[in-house]
Amino acid sequence: MKVIILENYDEVSREAARIIARQVLRKPASVLGLATGSTPEGTYANLARMCDEGLISFQEVVSYNLDEYVGLKPEHEQSYSYFMKQKLFDHIDIRPENTHLLSGIAEDVQRECDAYEMAIDRSGGIDLQLLGIGGNGHIAFNEPSDAFAPSTHRVKLDERTCADNARFFDRVEDVPSHALSMGIGSIMRARSILLLATGKNKAEAIRNTVQGPVTPQVPASVLQLHPDVTLLIDAEAASLLLAQTEAESNA
Ligand code: PGA
Repeated sequence: MKVIILENYDEVSREAARIIARQVLRKPASVLGLATGSTPEGTYANLARMCDEGLISFQEVVSYNLDEYVGLKPEHEQSYSYFMKQKLFDHIDIRPENTHLLSGIAEDVQRECDAYEMAIDRSGGIDLQLLGIGGNGHIAFNEPSDAFAPSTHRVKLDERTCADNARFFDRVEDVPSHALSMGIGSIMRARSILLLATGKNKAEAIRNTVQGPVTPQVPASVLQLHPDVTLLIDAEAASLLLAQTEAESNA
């Protein structure tokens, strides 16, 4: 696991965009796993600018998003489908038919999840998976639990996740209680993984991810076992990591 500590959110966003740009330049038909949430917004803005300036093209890129809220239609302003259009897809030259998101309104949930896994497989697997991390250590919507989910599935959202995401809704009661999410297995099958985290409220999750035991109670800790993971974090998200490292080196 490579941990890169940068000064702030803007630095993290710029470096993340550079890593994704390099991937797309090396392999124009890359399969990208994409994430939502506040964290990747700056990365997407940088990618849109690079595309606008003619530095990179997404014409051959295929994308799969990590998750979607159950019950929200794609046009809903808080759906991840809407988010992706607003923050990235409408600003780059990716083909709409090459972008994939789980449907939050699928009637047959199992079928939707199975079809998603098969589609990723048919595309050749994910080359680069972008991740955020929840304050509770979740990746995608894989919440702390007793086992690692092997594949795309329906999840009940944690209380902390609902509270964290309430800022996007009028009331905390409006946050959907369930989501469809790629599983830990789906994420671990990606050839490379880039996780972004900024701010103090991610510090504990980052420490547990990097320095804690591998446990489904901290879903992101599984990344310790992946052969190609880069963590791009800012000084605040790294603060508890540094404290522990200093304590160790003083011991
Ligand atoms: P955030 O969410 O980027 O909005 O902090 C990250 C996540 O919950 O995975």
